[in-house]
Amino acid sequence: MADTSPKVCTVNFGKGAQDISVYKSLGGYSNVGKRLFDLSQFELIDLVTRSGLRGRGGAGFPTGMKWSFVPRGGKPVYLVVNADEGEPGTFKDHFLMLEDPHRLIEGMLICGWALGVRTAYIYVRGEFLSAVESLNKAISQAYAAGLLGANIGGSGYSLDIYVHRGAGAYICGEETALINSLEGCKGQPRLKPPFPAVSGAWSSPTCVNNVETIMALPWILENGPEAYAAIGVGRSNGTKVFSVSGDVKRPGVYECALGLPIMEMLESEQFCQGVIGDLKGVIPGGSSTPVLTTAEASDAKLDYESLAAKGTMLGSGAIIAFNSSRNVVTMLQSLTRFYAHESCGQCTPCREGTGFANRVMKTVVAGKGRDTDLQLLLDLCEGFTPTTICPLAAADAGPIESFTKKFRADFEAAIARNPERAEERLHPNFRPGAFW
Ligand SMILES: Cc1cc2nc3c(=O)[nH]c(=O)nc-3n(C[C@H](O)[C@H](O)[C@H](O)COP(=O)(O)O)c2cc1C
Ligand code: SF4
Repeated sequence: MADTSPKVCTVNFGKGAQDISVYKSLGGYSNVGKRLFDLSQFELIDLVTRSGLRGRGGAGFPTGMKWSFVPRGGKPVYLVVNADEGEPGTFKDHFLMLEDPHRLIEGMLICGWALGVRTAYIYVRGEFLSAVESLNKAISQAYAAGLLGANIGGSGYSLDIYVHRGAGAYICGEETALINSLEGCKGQPRLKPPFPAVSGAWSSPTCVNNVETIMALPWILENGPEAYAAIGVGRSNGTKVFSVSGDVKRPGVYECALGLPIMEMLESEQFCQGVIGDLKGVIPGGSSTPVLTTAEASDAKLDYESLAAKGTMLGSGAIIAFNSSRNVVTMLQSLTRFYAHESCGQCTPCREGTGFANRVMKTVVAGKGRDTDLQLLLDLCEGFTPTTICPLAAADAGPIESFTKKFRADFEAAIARNPERAEERLHPNFRPGAFW
């Protein structure tokens, strides 16, 4: 069956667009000239606002609104593209940078012009060596073509782009930790406010946007905000690029209009071509988003509002499908190990709580669980959200609460393997609810 889904960010996949001459022959950079520079900053921000584009890094914050917070006329404004992509299951930005690096550069020129940016960074996950290579090559070509550097196309506008490699810490994807890391400091989140748009890198206004968010801009400028807003459903406008993995016949990176039913993504010939075995559940938006059972997934749609109504999130668009041969108890243990390992250690509930949750899960998997363990895990999660600097601990709560609630029988069966399960693990006076 022909691929009928609209393409905004992946339209050049497989066409050799890494080379600037191919990218240009496909229409690339054609608006970096009069079309772009004739627009005032206000008009360009308004255009992006009208498109309804929302940040694709996870939170779905409206991009035009974020840009409107950036103050003008004072300190230099920085643009930082977030290409850290460390969440388990997420790999779309890696492919976007490998396949179409010039689209990212063009998007950065559009954002840069809108915000008066002279210096921009792409903060890339340390392990993505080939993406760094692809970006550096494309940036050199863009400089040679006069599309970066001083006085671009005689417009008087100048932009320099630097690629900065991270060192492989998931927490450096959080925008303020990323800024600390970029500055050469420890990659730990900062308290907000102030938000980066007002005071970010080197205490200057800094716009942090995801790779996919920035890569949607050339299409929006070319086709107009109304055309972009016409794709999708409700307040979920445009397309989304999904990373799909797990028990499907054809895992991969797929772009579709927001609002596509999850089952169509998993079953359709143009996407994953079917589930392997009996579907047991689906993580819809990355490891931190609450899991859906098969019954819940059967009528769920891939957009911000539909997934929120199901008690979960679109997140970064990392769909992980799993069948009934998978052990959900070991799956959760693997996720709790990840969050415990990636906690930066600044906040007690996160530093101690994610480690504690992981130790509890380890004993359950080892057949040494206690009857009180499921309640203990939920009590730990209660302390995660309100008292921490960033949402990493809350991201651990998403899978813990949803897996233990929705697949309770599997967890009870794992605990029942321990003949001494009723014994108290902790001091008899320990009351889990009073832990914090
Ligand atoms: C622990 C953690 C990790 C994150 N990792 C990423 C990431 O790898 N890429 C990303 O774009 N956003 C990530 N985010 C979200 C960023 O903080 C930020 O909201 C985003 O880059 C903003 O871009 P957007 O508005 O285009 O979505 C992460 C957030 C948290 C709390
Ligand atoms: S919540 Fe965790 S990762 Fe975030 S700042 Fe606190 S300790 Fe660090």
